[in-house]
Formats: sequence, C-alpha cells, structure tokens
Amino acid sequence: MAKVPPGVGPRFPQLVVLFGATGDLSRRKLLPGLYHLVSAGFIPGCRIIGVSLDDIDADGFRKIARASLDEFFNRKVTDRDWEAFARSLDYVPLGAGPEALRSAVEAAEQTFEGESRRLHYLSVPPNAALAAVRMISEAGLVDRARIVMEKPFGTDLASAVSLNAKLHDVFTEDQIFRIDHFLGKEPAQNILAFRFANGLFEPIWNRNFIDHVQIDVPETLGLGKRAGFYEQTGAYRDMVVTHLFQILAFMAMEPPTALEPAPISEEKNKVFRSMLPILPGDVVRGQYTGYRTEEGVDPESDTETLIALKCYIDNWRWAGVPFFLRTGKRMAEGQRIISIAFREPPKSMFPPGSGVGAQGPDHLTFDLADASKMSLSFYGKRPGPGMRLDKLSLQFAMHDTGMIGEVLEAYERLILDAMRGDHTLFNTADGIERLWQVSTQLLEAPPPVRLYAPGSWGPKSIHQLIAPHAWRLPFERVWRDPNGTGS
Ligand code: BG6
Repeated sequence: MAKVPPGVGPRFPQLVVLFGATGDLSRRKLLPGLYHLVSAGFIPGCRIIGVSLDDIDADGFRKIARASLDEFFNRKVTDRDWEAFARSLDYVPLGAGPEALRSAVEAAEQTFEGESRRLHYLSVPPNAALAAVRMISEAGLVDRARIVMEKPFGTDLASAVSLNAKLHDVFTEDQIFRIDHFLGKEPAQNILAFRFANGLFEPIWNRNFIDHVQIDVPETLGLGKRAGFYEQTGAYRDMVVTHLFQILAFMAMEPPTALEPAPISEEKNKVFRSMLPILPGDVVRGQYTGYRTEEGVDPESDTETLIALKCYIDNWRWAGVPFFLRTGKRMAEGQRIISIAFREPPKSMFPPGSGVGAQGPDHLTFDLADASKMSLSFYGKRPGPGMRLDKLSLQFAMHDTGMIGEVLEAYERLILDAMRGDHTLFNTADGIERLWQVSTQLLEAPPPVRLYAPGSWGPKSIHQLIAPHAWRLPFERVWRDPNGTGS
C-alpha cells in the first residue's frame, strides 16, 4: 500500500461515534472506509463506537464489521490489521441512553495519548437525525467534536430549515459537515480540475456554445433492505436534490477565487440561487413494475423509483440551456455520466449524404465511475474518396495513468476531510435550503408515477421530456476498452 504523505490526515487521534452503525450505508461504505483509513495509516489513532437500535454487544458489532469487510471491501484484509481494528470497536445500543454512550466514549478516549477529537457520524434517516443530536448533547459530547450529517438533509424546505435551526442549538456551523458522497468522488473533483486548470474549454463553457447538458445516473440496483428508507424518500429526495444537483453545481459554477470552502460554496450557492423552480410539467416520475409487492412497500405506494427532469439556470452563462437529469433503480445499466452537447455548426457546405450531424452533436462526456473516463466526440473524415463523415472520439481513462490504486473511495475521502475540519467538499445550510425551495412546486404537486419495466430505461415519457434531443444512454458507441484493444 502506498505510503501516506504527511499532512493528508488529521493531526489528532479520532473518536468516532457511528449512529446507524449496523445499517446499509455503514456496512457497505463507512466501516470498510474507516478500516482502510486506519490500516493505511491515514489516521493517527482511531476508536469507533457503534450506536444503533439493534440490541447487540461489542462482539456482535465486530462480527457485523468483519462481515461487511468480507462482502464490501475491495482490498486485502490482513489478520494483523483486522485484529487491531476489531480492538478499536465498541458498541452502545441506542436504548442504553446518553450516560452509557458517555462512559463508552470516555473509556475509549483514555486509550489515546494526549489530545483527541470526536467525529459523530449520523448515518440515520432524516426523521432520526434530531434524536441522535439530542443524545450527543445530553451525553455532553459536543466539545472537541464535529458532526457529519447524511443526506437527505430534511425532506422539504420547512423540515430542512427546522433541522438547521435545531442543529445550531447544539453545534456551531463550523462543527457541521453535511455530506454528499458524490462530491467525494475523484471524477467529480476532476470536473473542477478539467474546467479551471485548462485554457481550452472554459471559454466555450456557456450558452453560446453548449446546447444542452445531461446528468444521467441509472442504477441496476434495487432496494435491497432499504424499503423502509426508500418508501419515505423516493428517487428525487434520495438522488436529485442531493447528488445530481451537487454535480450540476460543479459543472455550472463560475470559477471560485480559490479552491477553499467559502469561495466554492459561494459559487455553488449562486448556481442554486439562479435555478428556476422545478415545474411538475418538466418532470417524469417512474416506478418499476413489481415495486409495490416488495417487502416493506405500501401496496398502493406512490413513491417514484425513477425520475427524469428538465431544469434551467437563469444566469448569464446558462440562460435557456436545458439541463436534463435522470436517475432510477432497476434500470437497464448502471452508469454515472455527465454529457455536454455542443451547438451544431452550419452544415450546408457538406455534400448531401456526407453524414454530417447524422449522429447527433459533438459531445464531451464525463464518466463519474471511480475508474473515471472522459471522451470528446467529433466528426471526422472517413478515409477514402469523397467526403463521408464518421463520429470519432478522443478518450481518456484513469486506468491509463496507472494510478487507479491511489483513488480513495468517496466516503473515505470525505471522512478524512471532516476529521481534518476541511469543509471544501461539504454543503452549506443555505445551499440545501435553496434546493428544497426550488423543489417546492414539484413536492407539492408531483405528477403521477408511470410504470416501467425493470431492466428498462424508464417509462416512454422520458423521451418526450428530452425531445427534440435524445438521451445519450445507452451509448451508441461503447467506451474504448482501457487496455487499448477495443474499438
Ligand atoms: C446513495 C443513495 O446516496 O447513493 C443510493 O441513497 C444510491 O440509493 C447511491 O444507490 C449511489 O451511489 P454510488 O456511489 O454507488 O453511485
């Protein structure tokens, strides 16, 4: 494993209180992520106290942690590292109350030499967040602490405003980290590098040259054991008002004066402030057939498992450029792409039948997978006589750099940032409240859900929504294979 460069981790040992410790996110991402950060030496000492509704003890929690590593950690788990990690785990059932939590924290902190910090991670649904904040406060664990709040942050404008106010009764703003793991993805940060570290694209990054933008995140995944959470949430709250809008902000924002928390938040929030309200008529809500018969789902459920919408940013850079967003469960493919369609040039100089424009506009495409890719497609001449045009592309794959092993998983990156007190990739109260505000009309009068077949790209109306354009996915031409042998 590569050696950790100095300064990338926190200065002090960390006491982590993980609320929702036995839940889906904790098992898939947080426990494996913490294990990696600890075993790779990013954190100078770490103890983790799991808290959840489950009535288990520390050994029971260790078993859950081990099973989660075996299932979800994609690097090697050595016996030595595991034993050290297991020793650092403890567990307090929620029912045991604040006193029990306080004793467990104090006992764990005594094992640190010198100063330490606390990180409370709330991996709980929106309606359980305040109870956890109360417990932290009653246990007297606010000092030297930071708190990471999972999304969705509230369920509408009123609940987000009230959650922020109540949170501020206990924590100061600089202690609060509202996480959105899409911003921790390496390719999301690469959007900023690509846009602002190069002279080539920024001059054409506006309504004069860009025709429309797609942010498309279909998933093949179903709900797993998350029906309880998902029934309350649905695709819009789970993915759009959170991840997709955050990505949209990185794609659309003005250059910040520095890559620091305040300038970045300011530019992102300007994008959100310029967003026009999402109109119910510009939204397609879908539900896959069979959803209503799944365990934990209301047989008459109106929850959308897919959403596609059109939105606008009414500022000088983007006025009139539609942004099409789509995401859903049980769809045909799992992908995460941003696709930028450039305006088409005049075509009359090309002879009839040349194929100019026949395969859509030229595009810049970002693939937000951990092994990220980027492609620029353009028309070029087919070799031989006459003037026949083909769609060609320049492609870059992270694989080409040989540095794919250095990529930190999004949660790892963000947990590390929160431990260091770095807010750059986290959301502000203002930004989140504004996003709920632009969502109000949709949340108050959602269009009816339309059924779609599992394994498809959504209900038919997704095509009307984007017409006269077309969804880029499924791709007509596949990505070049990273070994360089493909088409
Ligand atoms: C989570 C959503 O925040 O993001 C899930 O709650 C979704 O429903 C997941 O599947 C997608 O994240 P990733 O990193 O796998 O693209």
